[in-house]
Amino acid sequence: MAEMASTEILLEITKDNLETGLRGYPVGYCTTSSVDPQKGLFYVGHPVSSMTHWDPEKVIYLLYHGQEGTNEQVSAFASELRERSPISPIILGHIRQLPKQTTPTKLFCIALLILGSLEGVGDYREDALNLVAKLPELAACVINYHAGWGNSNPSKPELGYMENFAHMLKVPNADKDSLVQIFRLFNILHYDHGGGNLSAFTGKAVSSGLEDLYGSLTGAMCALAGPKHGRANQDSLDFINSLIEAIGEDASDEKLTAELERRLSENQLIFGFGHAVLRVEDPRATVLYELAQQQYANNPLVKMALTLRRVAPKILGAHSKAADPYPNVDAISGSVLSAAGFPYSKYFTVLFGLARCVGISRQIIYERLEARDGKGVPIYRPKFFYLQ
Ligand code: MLT
Repeated sequence: MAEMASTEILLEITKDNLETGLRGYPVGYCTTSSVDPQKGLFYVGHPVSSMTHWDPEKVIYLLYHGQEGTNEQVSAFASELRERSPISPIILGHIRQLPKQTTPTKLFCIALLILGSLEGVGDYREDALNLVAKLPELAACVINYHAGWGNSNPSKPELGYMENFAHMLKVPNADKDSLVQIFRLFNILHYDHGGGNLSAFTGKAVSSGLEDLYGSLTGAMCALAGPKHGRANQDSLDFINSLIEAIGEDASDEKLTAELERRLSENQLIFGFGHAVLRVEDPRATVLYELAQQQYANNPLVKMALTLRRVAPKILGAHSKAADPYPNVDAISGSVLSAAGFPYSKYFTVLFGLARCVGISRQIIYERLEARDGKGVPIYRPKFFYLQ
């Protein structure tokens, strides 16, 4: 795997290596997932595209146990998650008192801190399992409250992990089966993305000072909130909408090419293409493009996203000689979420966080409790040169 660092590699640091956001430098191990520039994301050695029909609980079992569970093991794990899932109504009440004049992702961060303050037990493993179990209800409460949809429908964990999330969320006029399908898939595709993505790195850095799991994840989710990380799916959908407004939903490849050329000549951004690690179309995007083509081919957003998939890599490759001009998962995820009945782009980062907390929590368990024969990784403390 590309991210699997050989301990024998010795780096000679020069000035060119500084102020690069640590891009590509090995700093540790990740036991949950790896990202190969040519093949994309693997969970515990399994390509993510091979588990799109798995139950979320089965994928979470894999990430938490490092191996595929038998049916009995997965079903026992799912029932443990169900038992751990209730959140005290007092906490939900506190969340519904928060000011709404902020982003939903910030509300999600505050909700994590409230949950940790009142229900955290101070043990990384226990807290991680409790949090994973409670995440769907926590995220549903934040979204329903912020959107003005009222209190969540009462939790029914027996429905299944993401089925219960779709049930609790009071999305107006949505077809529940379509929502369940896209939420399950989106959730599975976003659990983890190697050890070095900004939110995972931040969560582990915060936890290295021995902050508890909830505080560490709050740091991670603040990192996720930025437009260069988790908010990119919201921005990509807004970008697709702006293209439809400018050239119409049935624009030809030529018309879209001209529009993209025009925007690039004005130094405007093209969203949803390129990735820090990948050098091919993101396999998570490929999975979503397939679903989009099969089920939502006539949706205007999907039509534009599919035209962009054909046109943008050529233009971006020629224009900027970018190493990766290919679609990443954000190029299509927002369009499919919208087509499936969830067109509320301001909540996309919360959906991303609901998934990503699962992988980051497991990565924190490794760094705190398992790394270095159980001693844990020391407090993060890289060196910065003094500059006058
Ligand atoms: C992703 O899901 O693509 C990431 O979190 C971004 C990254 O890997 O740096």
